Amino acid sequence: MTQHFAAPTAPTTGTPTGWWRDAVIYQVYPRSFADSNGDGMGDLEGVRDRLPYLRDLGVDAVWLSPFYASPQADAGYDVADYRAIDPMFGTLLDADAMIRDAHDLGLRVIVDVVPNHSSDQYAWFKRAIDDGPASPLRDRYHFRPGKGENGELPPNDWESIFGGPAWTRVADGAWYLHLFAPEQPDLNWEHPAVADEFRSILRFWLDMGVDGFRVDVAHGLVKAEGLPDIGGNEQLKLLGNDVMPFFDQDGVHEIYRSWRKILDEYPGERIAVAEAWTPTVERTAHYVRPDELHQAFNFQYLGTHWDAAELRAVIDASLAAMLPVGAPATWVLSNHDVTRHATRFANPPGGTQIRTAGDRELGLRRARAATLLMLALPGSAYVYQGEELGLPDVTDLPDEVRQDPSFFRAAGQDGFRDGCRVPLPWTTDGPSYGFGSGGSWLPQPQSWAGLSVEAQTGDPGSTLELYRSALALRREHPGLGAGDSVDWQPGTPEGVLAFARPGFLCTVNTTAAPVRLPVPGRLLLASTATTVEGDEFELPADSTLWWAV
Ligand code: NOJ
Repeated sequence: MTQHFAAPTAPTTGTPTGWWRDAVIYQVYPRSFADSNGDGMGDLEGVRDRLPYLRDLGVDAVWLSPFYASPQADAGYDVADYRAIDPMFGTLLDADAMIRDAHDLGLRVIVDVVPNHSSDQYAWFKRAIDDGPASPLRDRYHFRPGKGENGELPPNDWESIFGGPAWTRVADGAWYLHLFAPEQPDLNWEHPAVADEFRSILRFWLDMGVDGFRVDVAHGLVKAEGLPDIGGNEQLKLLGNDVMPFFDQDGVHEIYRSWRKILDEYPGERIAVAEAWTPTVERTAHYVRPDELHQAFNFQYLGTHWDAAELRAVIDASLAAMLPVGAPATWVLSNHDVTRHATRFANPPGGTQIRTAGDRELGLRRARAATLLMLALPGSAYVYQGEELGLPDVTDLPDEVRQDPSFFRAAGQDGFRDGCRVPLPWTTDGPSYGFGSGGSWLPQPQSWAGLSVEAQTGDPGSTLELYRSALALRREHPGLGAGDSVDWQPGTPEGVLAFARPGFLCTVNTTAAPVRLPVPGRLLLASTATTVEGDEFELPADSTLWWAV
């Protein structure tokens, strides 16, 4: 089915517009959101049933992690058929119904596209193996002879992000490249058939009506000519800090220029957001030049500690980096690959993979404050399912239930990602706390009964109601997400931030002690209960307050 649409009219003057510029986008991790058939695994019908919850929460769009046919070697980021739904998630008809219902509720739908690698069960790779060394299908991947006398050594020294060498040897002696698990062979984007296939896949989903794509490993598609060695033995530490021969190569941008043309052919402002881990926000900005993608995740912001000076610096750098390219900044605190921010902030400053529960109360207080700060910034914000419930990571999952492939590979980068993927609690009792009528693929802590949607709904002090209020206020004050700058207020004490947006002021205390400040206006929302007395108010420790001014 081919559809022909007139090119949308993009504004060329004045303030840029576009639904995505200030959208709040909610990430659904389909395995763990809602299970409609009681098999312990979330599915598309489960998502569809809960769309009204998302509409009422007040988000603008939903991004779903992969639900395509997959052997699930990496929770669906190993795709065996990009145009089919994995039976564990449902059918294409379910996807169609879910997209239609979302649209009827006023929600946009963004799906994941995984172009850096396929599954080893993808038809091309299976044939590349089955047809032997002469198979022309091998050119669509990175097959190479090994080094050493008998080719027994990998072709170069690259390491997999999940640990171990980035090469696996097949029975006939050739090696193939996989930056992630061996079940995720990297595609060769120099081959025209690869580019054609993905243009077709984009059109397939655009014709299904999706509003956009989240591009997995957007920075990885092009590898440096000749696949040069990196040298040194701590490659994982370089990731995100240095330009690597397999990441952030300039050639990727040509691909996104061709994708942008496709997106622009469709009506209704279809978008793409890059998952691009780059060394600097300036390099991230390359992905969102006017003829490339629309947004890129701001992982520099996600990695920032709960520290006023650091936060201000990354906010300023992010906004400044986006200005020359005219793209909105994006903000994100949690996703399915990192420790949830309620747990990160419960621990002393560290990376994005934290293995201890820390001080839960402190973590939640800071997480709530961090969320109000994020939702007051200009640009688009991403909310990961369950953060609206203040969920922590589950840091004590027994080894035998873990599924993250990097857990099973030595020295991997993200071996503890299961902790942020535990299914959501919807009700205070029942099997899997309303996730489904059966169990859940990862065990939920008993304490999650009290964190369920049911337990928090109507409780004005709950994190869920805080998110609902914040998102409602963000809609009432459209100036909040719009624009490209914040107006920092001078004279705030150390550890305190105050910035103005049109008709609005946000005050943030990242320190452990309350601060007294002059009342700037009418209090709209507080992440921690506060008192306003006469001309002064208390900005509690680790809190954010919103004001109408
Ligand atoms: C990034 C995804 O978010 C992550 O979950 C996945 O493991 C890798 N890309 C590989 O696809």
